Amino acid sequence: MSPADQPAGPTAPTYVWEPTTDFLAAKYGLPRESLVRFDVNTSPLPPDLRDVLTGPFDPPLSEYPPSDYAGLVAAAAESYGVAPDEILPTAGADEALDLTARAFLREGSVAVGAVPTYAMYGIVTEQRGARFRAVSRREADEGFGLDIPAMAEAARGADLVWLCEPNNPTGTAEPPERIGELLDRLAANAARDGLAAPAVAVDEAYAEFVGSSVVALRGRYPRLVVIRTLSKAHALAGARVGFAVAQPETLAPILSFRAPASVSTVSAALATAALRRPELAAANVARIAEQRARLIGEMTRIGWRPYPSRANFILVRFGSVKIAAAAAEALLRRGLVPRTFGLDHPLADCLRLTVRSARENDRLIRAAMEIPA
Ligand SMILES: Cc1ncc(COP(=O)(O)O)c(C=O)c1O
Repeated sequence: MSPADQPAGPTAPTYVWEPTTDFLAAKYGLPRESLVRFDVNTSPLPPDLRDVLTGPFDPPLSEYPPSDYAGLVAAAAESYGVAPDEILPTAGADEALDLTARAFLREGSVAVGAVPTYAMYGIVTEQRGARFRAVSRREADEGFGLDIPAMAEAARGADLVWLCEPNNPTGTAEPPERIGELLDRLAANAARDGLAAPAVAVDEAYAEFVGSSVVALRGRYPRLVVIRTLSKAHALAGARVGFAVAQPETLAPILSFRAPASVSTVSAALATAALRRPELAAANVARIAEQRARLIGEMTRIGWRPYPSRANFILVRFGSVKIAAAAAEALLRRGLVPRTFGLDHPLADCLRLTVRSARENDRLIRAAMEIPA
């Protein structure tokens, strides 16, 4: 190939976004307002923050946000029970994941993750030229739990360990003391091997749905990074606000890769208000827990096989890829968009369905009655 024939540049591993509502509406010949996104784990209704949206903003929108995001940082520090210098605001949890990979991985590094899990860990790892070492979770009938000895062994010599608590897409959560046990093993192995202990990123995007966090373990394991978001329980996915939470010396290399003002003034104001009004997220979490129990009950009654969930989504097993694909297509034809998994995915015979409003869930239940499991 001559230089002129070369492709424009290397193609990095990329997250493939779900199709847009407009695309699906056109494909299935449905009005766009009739579609319900059961695939993206968002909350059904945003919090009422109209008072914030109408401004005025400080600083005004003609200026950049303050580089320290002091108001947002103070609200997040109080909410997560840490000091302000342990909070780094990011454009959603996904930016925090990317910055964490940039901070701790380089060409030839190894990062470890427990699969099946959120695809971004593998993607941001490989984008750094590092290798993603996948450790299988325990079987479904063992609650998809972490294989702690296998994780600790795989992490020998690794630079980073990714954890997702509660885990997407299984909806399961590890008791915090089990995470503590893993951290102790990582520290002990590193001491034995004469190496630095790996950084450990715990993605707590869905933590509010379980009501616990491992953030208190950062004293015991200083290289712990906890990642939080306003996208799920706070119902602000469109605002794109998340955080990396860690001791200042662990946060410093992560901060060094963030663009100076990646969170807009509008988003920072919305997120600050949402964190200062925790009753809004608490009410959302309670509504979702009630609807989740109802959905799981109804699905079970009609012969679907949902797994228990600690998050705002439910994993349903259909037992064969063909039946899962047929169920997905039948749902889509009714305007209900499920999350499917690729053919080579360990959950290829499953669908993942977000818990939505009572009325939207009614549509899902009615559809499920007509769709064989
Ligand atoms: C486990 C997990 N982490 C991070 C994210 C992305 O969150 P954000 O919207 O804050 O970027 C998601 C979104 O689905 C997720 O499931």
